[in-house]
Amino acid sequence: MRATTLSSVLLLATRATSQLLPFGAFHSTPYKDLPNNHPQNPIMPTGDNTPSTNAAVVLSDVLGNQRAINIFASFTRDIEAITQRLETSSLNTTVLAPVNGAITSLPRKPWEDSADYQAMGDGAYEGKSGEDRAQRNLRRFVEAHIAPISPWGEGEKVQSLGGGEVWWERREERAVVMPGEVEIERVVSKVKNGEVWLLKDVLNYEK
Ligand SMILES: *[C@@H]1O[C@H](CO)[C@@H](O)[C@H](O)[C@H]1NC(C)=O
Repeated sequence: MRATTLSSVLLLATRATSQLLPFGAFHSTPYKDLPNNHPQNPIMPTGDNTPSTNAAVVLSDVLGNQRAINIFASFTRDIEAITQRLETSSLNTTVLAPVNGAITSLPRKPWEDSADYQAMGDGAYEGKSGEDRAQRNLRRFVEAHIAPISPWGEGEKVQSLGGGEVWWERREERAVVMPGEVEIERVVSKVKNGEVWLLKDVLNYEK
């Protein structure tokens, strides 16, 4: 009960702050994504191509603001360890967020694994153990798209949270994440604890 009351108070405080902002600022910052642990801080909207370097803003605040990657953003919120990392201002991260269309056009949902279907058939994701299995697979997908480093220099090889080695390279006008050569469309956010890069495709996340 006490926790509910506290968060209601913070939410009210946050809403009050939002009302002082012009529509555009409020619009690009839905209140559910505001840093409600710091309601006293001014809200810095982070729109396309206008990276914010406000010291109070962290990755978890801005990831949900980009409609083009909101499927990936919602996956990150489903995984507690990832949410915590993106909220932690002292842990830098580069989020390699695939554009929505790349996720929706996958042959299987990111939480489905053909090996699970082979072993368990159509019911692979039913019941509590099925849900846990789906959650583990989703986590693997998300972790393959999290580089625990920022700033991240060209050619610098790092292990994603999923364990695979990744780096990036310039290719004439483009930049790609290696080894899959997945094109980086642009950097969509730049905040205190890292950056969000928009990828045109998903990275390899299979075991
Ligand atoms: C974390 O990122 C900030 C930029 O937002 C940078 O100034 C700082 O040096 C980075 N820290 C590490 C450990 O890379």
